[in-house]
Amino acid sequence: MCGIVGIIGKDAARKVINSLKILEYRGYDSAGIAVMLNGRIEVRKAAGTIENLISRYPDILEMRGELSIGHTRWATHGKVSDSNAHPITDCSRRIAVVHNGTIDNYMEIRERLSAKHEFRTETDTEVIAHLIEEKLNRGLGRLEAFVSAISELRGEYAVACMFEGANELYLARNRIPLVIGVGEGENYCASDVIALLNLTNKFIYVNDGEFALITSKNIDVWRFEEGRLIPVEKRINLVDWSPSMTSKGKYEHFMLKEIFEQEDVVKRILMESRRYIKGALSILEETMKNGGRIIFLAAGTSYHASMVGKYLLNSLLGYPSEVSIASEFTRWNLRGLSEDDLVIAVSQSGETADVLMAVKSAKEKGAKILSFVNVPGSTLSRESDEVFFFSAGPEIGVAATKTYVAELVSFLLTFTELGKITGDPVYHVAEALPRLPSIVASCLESSNRIAKALSEAIKGENSIFFMGRGINYPTALEGALKMKEISYIHAEGFPAGEYKHGPLALISEGTYSIVIGSNDQEIRDLLLSNVNELKARGSKVISVETDEHLPSDIRIKVAENGLPEEVLPVVFVIPLQLLAYYTAVTLGRNPDKPRNLAKSVTVK
Ligand code: M6R
Repeated sequence: MCGIVGIIGKDAARKVINSLKILEYRGYDSAGIAVMLNGRIEVRKAAGTIENLISRYPDILEMRGELSIGHTRWATHGKVSDSNAHPITDCSRRIAVVHNGTIDNYMEIRERLSAKHEFRTETDTEVIAHLIEEKLNRGLGRLEAFVSAISELRGEYAVACMFEGANELYLARNRIPLVIGVGEGENYCASDVIALLNLTNKFIYVNDGEFALITSKNIDVWRFEEGRLIPVEKRINLVDWSPSMTSKGKYEHFMLKEIFEQEDVVKRILMESRRYIKGALSILEETMKNGGRIIFLAAGTSYHASMVGKYLLNSLLGYPSEVSIASEFTRWNLRGLSEDDLVIAVSQSGETADVLMAVKSAKEKGAKILSFVNVPGSTLSRESDEVFFFSAGPEIGVAATKTYVAELVSFLLTFTELGKITGDPVYHVAEALPRLPSIVASCLESSNRIAKALSEAIKGENSIFFMGRGINYPTALEGALKMKEISYIHAEGFPAGEYKHGPLALISEGTYSIVIGSNDQEIRDLLLSNVNELKARGSKVISVETDEHLPSDIRIKVAENGLPEEVLPVVFVIPLQLLAYYTAVTLGRNPDKPRNLAKSVTVK
């Protein structure tokens, strides 16, 4: 969604532009910056890309100010236009504001202020600038005016604000991510740590309801309670991600780079993420001992991983669990939820609004939260009782790839370790795990060429259908999600057994069906008849298998047929990621930035 950056230090404008470029991955439609030059605020903003902003204002990189804020906008209130782009200023252009989120009571405030203030945009954000101006006009100091104005807002926001003549950056946060970067003689703020990695690896996480004032030397944080600012002691956290992790390297797109990183990601989880396992194991053990409910909560790709998690808990530990799409986790799911229960929240970003909302409701009922998260310091990780960081490194491509595999491997590791404690028969899976990195590597190698070739065959399709059974039903859903979100070809995933109950009507001569295989004899036999049914209706069947069991037209063969069924989702998804990637590229789409989508969905 929108991205915010603020820099107080040398060459601020250039640094803001660089960080905004990194934030592009979140998705945006306009960009802009404000820079303090000789004590006055200069704003440059435009609809379109950052490159467009630079070519419209060639002076932008030469502006030598030491304070700058910048923004990438993802329109919510008001069309995509130059004037609606941020930063947004007050009447006298003495205050500049960038904002991520939505202000629910902006109409009410706008009506109240419009007699005295000139509104120049259609945005909800503009009320923030005028409200601060109003407070300044009434004689409040900068900090008081900022805090008092923000306290009148209802809604969700991360706000950064600067005032004419003051080398200070004012920040506020409510339910929208905001981090402070700690530098040497300079300080920063941004929507996420990734945007600042080339400047620092030291971060302070701003919590909901907190305000901050940053100068080049100091960082002060407060809570505003009962009309008073109460100072808050903050910890500086070290993030061990490096700036090179945010570059494409030799790859044409981040998505391809991230797909090919999967061998290393798996290796890292098996070796390094073990340090997070203790907390996860103890909270799981305790819940199971008390017979508590276990509910996985997630959105999108992380939801598909959670579905696999549910299968794994059941097949490895014989423990029943539930899985809910976060935005569907409503009061019905909440009924009967208690302190004995455990919510497993799964999220790459740890900032997905639907997940955070659902977790908040579950916590209100007393349930414990175990999260599986990628981004260090993310809101979800800070809201959880226990966190398993799967440390896949920054994922820039909007389509989740390496983090899906990371989520699966984290579940495999956690649940097999748990099974060893509970005495469940998990050894067949535990034994296969050390071989996973090399299996993933050879799967990448063997499926890359065929996926590329197949993309040429399917690129003209209107619809493609994916199907699987059991633990690979989520693989079918994930394959379809990848295909639709980056190639824009309609794709649907089904449980293979459901076909005959309706979807089969969609199959006609030449329709492509992608069937996910199995190493389980019973499932194989069922899939065999599904494939025959499809072929009898003219479908062209592509199978993803470990051997040559299914009578498909085209076969993508990966891994070995002795591999336990529980491990297969990790490898079977790889050719599907590659197929989606090459299809998008063949169709001239940018797989890293699919239309209408954002990497981190911070709105409900
Ligand atoms: O950061 P999260 O894992 O919470 O994100 C959830 C979804 O928004 C995300 O997986 C989305 O579906 C991806 N774009 C899919 O590739």
